[in-house]
Amino acid sequence: MSGEPAVASFTDTHPDPESFLDDALAGLGATPKTLPSKYFYDDRGSELFQRICEVPEYYVTRAETALLGNIAGQAAEMIGDGASIIEYGTGSSEKIAILLAALNRPAAFVAVDISAGVLRGVAERVARDFPDLAVHAVCADFTRPFKLPKMSSPGRRVVFFPGSSLGNFDHEQSVDFLANAACIVGPGGGMLIGIDLKKDEAVLNAAYDDAQGVTAAFNLNLLQRLNRECGADFDLDAFRHRAFYNADAGRIEMHLVSLHAQVVALGGQSISFAEGETIHTENSYKYSVPEFQDLARRAGCEPLGAWTDAEGLFSLHYLSVACDR
Ligand code: AVJ
Repeated sequence: MSGEPAVASFTDTHPDPESFLDDALAGLGATPKTLPSKYFYDDRGSELFQRICEVPEYYVTRAETALLGNIAGQAAEMIGDGASIIEYGTGSSEKIAILLAALNRPAAFVAVDISAGVLRGVAERVARDFPDLAVHAVCADFTRPFKLPKMSSPGRRVVFFPGSSLGNFDHEQSVDFLANAACIVGPGGGMLIGIDLKKDEAVLNAAYDDAQGVTAAFNLNLLQRLNRECGADFDLDAFRHRAFYNADAGRIEMHLVSLHAQVVALGGQSISFAEGETIHTENSYKYSVPEFQDLARRAGCEPLGAWTDAEGLFSLHYLSVACDR
């Protein structure tokens, strides 16, 4: 297609191939049983997540998008002119578009994702919507060190990590993640991060157990994936979605509960479930503003800006990486 603005560079770091079967056997062989939440997002899971973002109970996406719209100007001032924005795990292009539109002459946009397909889509969309911007794509595991593409005068580098996706990591992993991001943006760089706030438990519980059952379908899709991709024989009617706020740990937990004693075949192994036994499929940590700021400081970042909506649902944080670290 001539005349279409092209993506300036596409770098494939060949991230270690993920093995769903190996990870599932390890998790289901452990006590208590677990499955990694990163496997939620196959095509069907990504579609279900999009639908979660639209159910009335799941306030997260709406609250963050509205808040970002309100504070993008202030964030843009802190970020400064001519910056390069590096988005991790590019999901919806709506949020990045709000940020890019608020910035003064941004130098470049770098999309980073582990899925080459998702990545190409986002990079092409941003290149089309912001024809004057140098758009780069990097296929990488952003929880590990990776190299940014060569850019001419990139200005300040700022990681954009919206959606409270950091909430899937425990506190230690989150500190490591932020420290790694700090290395990637380098001294003087920054981060704009979306974090879901602690709030009324009933609001949290409803957000992860919506009345339409979309979150339940999203959770059960993990077992469907094991059946489809790994030849497992999970009976989907024999497991039920359960989500609850664990106040002591400060997190939502999602589980799949075995409704009766059963044995499931997976990868040549037999996995036994007791009645009521669960597979722990996701943690979604919630933070107060000071709690998250403490976490950021532990990673060597300085919290310069924190914004919340009037209802106290969601927070956005601007962190800066010291020049002398
Ligand atoms: C995409 C990880 C931010 O934890 O709220 C939504 C995923 N799980 N409903 C979250 C999710 C159940 C979501 N994150």
